[in-house]
Amino acid sequence: MPTRLASDSLAQKYRKNDTAAPRQAVQWMNVSDDEDRTRKTPFKVHSNGQTNGRKRLRTSQNGCATSMPPSTIQEQRNSLPIAKGKAAIIEEIRSNDVTVLIGETGSGKTTQVPQYILESGLARDGLIAVTQPRRVAATSLATRVAVEQNTTVGRLVGYSVRFDERSSPSTRVKYLTDGMIVRELLADPLLTKYSVVIVDEAHERTLRTDLLLSHLKSIQKQRVPSPDGKGKGKERDASGRQLKIVVMSATLDAEKFSKYFAEAKILYVKGRQHPVKIYHSATDQMDYLDAALRTFFQIHTDQPPGDVLIFLPGQEDIESLEKSIQALNRRLPSGRMEVLVCSMYAAQAPGQNAKAFSPSPSNTRKCILATNIAETSITIPGVKYVIDTGKCKEKRYLTSDTGGGVSIC
Ligand SMILES: Nc1ncnc2c1ncn2[C@@H]1O[C@H](COP(=O)(O)OP(=O)(O)O)[C@@H](O)[C@H]1O
Ligand SMILES: [Mg+2]
Repeated sequence: MPTRLASDSLAQKYRKNDTAAPRQAVQWMNVSDDEDRTRKTPFKVHSNGQTNGRKRLRTSQNGCATSMPPSTIQEQRNSLPIAKGKAAIIEEIRSNDVTVLIGETGSGKTTQVPQYILESGLARDGLIAVTQPRRVAATSLATRVAVEQNTTVGRLVGYSVRFDERSSPSTRVKYLTDGMIVRELLADPLLTKYSVVIVDEAHERTLRTDLLLSHLKSIQKQRVPSPDGKGKGKERDASGRQLKIVVMSATLDAEKFSKYFAEAKILYVKGRQHPVKIYHSATDQMDYLDAALRTFFQIHTDQPPGDVLIFLPGQEDIESLEKSIQALNRRLPSGRMEVLVCSMYAAQAPGQNAKAFSPSPSNTRKCILATNIAETSITIPGVKYVIDTGKCKEKRYLTSDTGGGVSIC
């Protein structure tokens, strides 16, 4: 496996070499066009849209959501792979208390399903909660869905993350981190104000999601008398606030969740919005940061406009690469597109992270340097190229060591 060389920062390295741009291009081989997954498919919501890709990446070539006229946004909603299955999804959620929904990243699960539930009246006068593993996802998704509902965030669509809440008595769809909904359980153990709880990105399986799933299972039993154990065709409680649970994920590990909820129905949404081409480096890269830098400039100098998203393991690498890109960009011959570098990582202030979502100024290529917080859940408008170093930081328990730590894998 390629490892990072312990060396000076990249910026220093290239300053010393005094090169106009990194010299050696990274060689790439095309390893796949989109490929359909084979699935065990109890139920399918088909679309005639684009082919599937295997890589989880969140990009949108649609420009900034907020600057689009409502008609375009509605057209965009209708063209999502999930739109073809709207009626079937609603019907399944209506007739089952627990539904597991699996679909490719970008198919429209997180933004559309809460709106379908809202529009169908399934939630009655209760709220629809959508849980997210990360705060940046909760806030950006709420903003997007508010735009789709032609309103501003905090009214019909709101969010709740640690130290920040945007909601009002008129809020019906609330995006919140799993930590926040677990916190709400302390004050309201039956989550009575919610009619539907959507557990999104369930495959991430944090301690909090597991805790939430087990609570939801017992809350559902308490809020609805359940003679048949599956919640089908029963008498509902007088308030009409029986709890519906929807578990959503982009992976194929649906059976586990279904089994946990007494063989709950599994729905598969087929289709992805954009075709994806994947290239792997033809040779081992000794230094992933250096390889990412060279690849970025290969794209910047050779490829048509489009923003670039680069995945890196952590803040230190992000800061180092940002300096290197800026230093090298100053040496490119004039007349090229400008480069705007934005960073995204958990420890960065939310306002700084939000910069990545702003549209690029004209004649500028935005380069977003992100940890895996941008890997799933969020959509960054304008991204056309993704460079993945394949590395991330992982917490591990090391028995042979003093107990634990974070390592780059
Ligand atoms: N912040 C955003 N800006 C622009 N488009 C967005 C934004 N969020 C979502 N979208 C659009 O909605 C589509 C579906 O996103 P989403 O519902 O999050 O998909 P899923 O949850 O299935 O991965 C995206 O592919 C993109 O076209
Ligand atoms: Mg999603």
